Amino acid sequence: MKKSLLIVFALAFSAIVFGQKQFFKPEKLVETGVYYYPEAWNPDQWDRDFKKMAEMGFEFTHMAEFAWAQIEPSEGNYDFKWLDKAVELAAKNNLKVIMCTPSATPPIWLTRKYPEILLEKPDGQTAMHGTREHYSWSSPKYQELTRKVVEAMAKHFANDTRIWGWQIDNEPSHYGTFDYSPAAQASFRVWLKDKYKTIDALNSAWGTAFWSGVYSCFDQIEMPNVGRLISGVASPTSVLDMKRFNADECAKYISLQNKAIKDNVSKSQFVTTNFMNAHTDVDPWRSKDLDFISYTVYPVAGYTEGLGDQGFRLGDPWRISFSNDFFRSLNGVTGVMELQPGQVNWGTYNPQPYPGAVRMWLWNAFAGGLDFICSYRFRQPLYGGEQFHYGMVGTDGVTPLNGGQQYSQFMGEIKELRKLYKPNVAMPKEYAARKTAMIYNPDDVWETTIQPQTFQWNERDHVTKCYNALKLLTIPVVFVDEQKNLSEYPFVMVPACQMVDKLLVEKWTKYTENGGNLIVTVRTGLKDRDGHFLQAPWADAITNLIGAKIVMNDMLGANKMGTVSFNGNSYKWNNWGDMLEPTAGTEVWAKFADQFYAGMPTVVHRKLGKGTVTYIGTDTDDGKLEKDVLKKAYEAVGVGVKELPEGVMVNWRDGFWVACNYSSSNVTLDIPANAKIIFGKKELTPAGVVVWME
Ligand code: GAL
Repeated sequence: MKKSLLIVFALAFSAIVFGQKQFFKPEKLVETGVYYYPEAWNPDQWDRDFKKMAEMGFEFTHMAEFAWAQIEPSEGNYDFKWLDKAVELAAKNNLKVIMCTPSATPPIWLTRKYPEILLEKPDGQTAMHGTREHYSWSSPKYQELTRKVVEAMAKHFANDTRIWGWQIDNEPSHYGTFDYSPAAQASFRVWLKDKYKTIDALNSAWGTAFWSGVYSCFDQIEMPNVGRLISGVASPTSVLDMKRFNADECAKYISLQNKAIKDNVSKSQFVTTNFMNAHTDVDPWRSKDLDFISYTVYPVAGYTEGLGDQGFRLGDPWRISFSNDFFRSLNGVTGVMELQPGQVNWGTYNPQPYPGAVRMWLWNAFAGGLDFICSYRFRQPLYGGEQFHYGMVGTDGVTPLNGGQQYSQFMGEIKELRKLYKPNVAMPKEYAARKTAMIYNPDDVWETTIQPQTFQWNERDHVTKCYNALKLLTIPVVFVDEQKNLSEYPFVMVPACQMVDKLLVEKWTKYTENGGNLIVTVRTGLKDRDGHFLQAPWADAITNLIGAKIVMNDMLGANKMGTVSFNGNSYKWNNWGDMLEPTAGTEVWAKFADQFYAGMPTVVHRKLGKGTVTYIGTDTDDGKLEKDVLKKAYEAVGVGVKELPEGVMVNWRDGFWVACNYSSSNVTLDIPANAKIIFGKKELTPAGVVVWME
């Protein structure tokens, strides 16, 4: 064999062995575990509980997440005896352990001795001891104390083969509260100096000439606090910077812990953290130094109606698939750290999930290529802030609840599926041909929140609507940042990427000229990176790309609907509509059917070089227009899609197709006659699952 070829093989091999996949065995497909809080239960019951966990089919457990008070009862004095005992009993019952750092919950000695570590809320109140995530991640003291406890833990479990990996903190986010403490204010000013270098540069980026906002030095700057402003936001860019800073601070704090662990433990232990799937004030993708990022998801807690009469018990169809695709995008690996076990306690009301829904979520998580699934929590708590929250077992500590039974069923099914696993099965050709990258930049989410223009605009809803429309056509989706090389994706979707620069638009143009197919939606390309409009005709940045001028936009009130006509069908909208003037060679696909601009185009399509660009200039509530336009855009370039009944999610992984029915109705799927159905059948009831091989 040639030397160069050998090097290529060696590199490929080391990527597999030393990449993030090293922590997981492909033939296991997915491993399932559950949280346990030894500190909350009588030590006499630990062995019994771990035994039960293993009997139910769990393969790992998770501990120490909120146990700082037990690990470090007084400053610098660590007690690992109890934790050692718990790890030993878990291992005795063949359960691997995810060890957690306890930084979400500082103990009382710490907050009394160092009160400066507490976060300051936007209303000026200092957070009170006794909850969680109430620390300031900008506090140098808190950073130091965190480093010490994490290093002590990491050194203690350094080469312990029973420890599978580490979770840092818990849902790092401050749950959406911005920190205005003196430490955060000081750190913000350093961040700004670092970014802008001169105060003139800041004044220009922040547009401080508006409303007499000019600064003469960095020391004058306070973090913008929207709640304290009297009328409007003078500098939206300052708020955007505050949000960017907040996300950076969070990532820095996670990084500090990552280093404290990695410097001390064996390479076989992974390090991750668990972000909330829908939380947008922090940015999971900023934590690039972790082995991978994971997420938490609770599909049913009274906050969504889902689809149809029973949707509130099934959850939104797109939610788990979206999280799988979003969190896997960073390092090619992800897992769900908390998947809802059953009824919860924190919603506005807390309905029972639909019978079978918990198992459906598990299959949906599996289908997204996850390497592990973990659930919060094994035992239903008897006291504390989450008393009504189901565990795998109920208040007696031994009897599996309905969710627990569904976990056992799923884990049994996965054992069966492992027997059918074949390594390196290629993605089916037709499916791969539809592969779509979706561009995501948290700046666009933050920026459009500051100046939404209509109360009906929600950037994240827009992105998920586009995602859902793609999934309804059985399209595999990958989220990518703006830097990602797009050449491997036949389709790229640009959903409301409001802030662009010249290079980015050039990149999209080249991608298309080289044969890619770009789909662009409303609000794209309106502003620069500082959130300013350009001194140019409206949306000038994308006019050449989409082959149309955006003449104006409109939006209607909550009770007023406009109509768009496309392919002879009518679609209702009221969130956002762009009126277009196509340039020569651009096809008009859809037009407004009413209002004073009736007849003006709103969806256009053009060829550009070897590729195509489709611009969807209307945002609808139900996403039906978007879905039908997408279908036409794929078919226009000879790529067939497979349309699914509303509420059905179909994903492929490792040779297996998985369909989940989130709708409230029975549906029948079009599964090829020669397919081998492994679990379920093609007639799906609500919460039904079918798994098959073709
Ligand atoms: C999660 C949190 C857990 C627990 C759970 C209850 O968001 O990370 O610690 O509170 O919610 O559903």
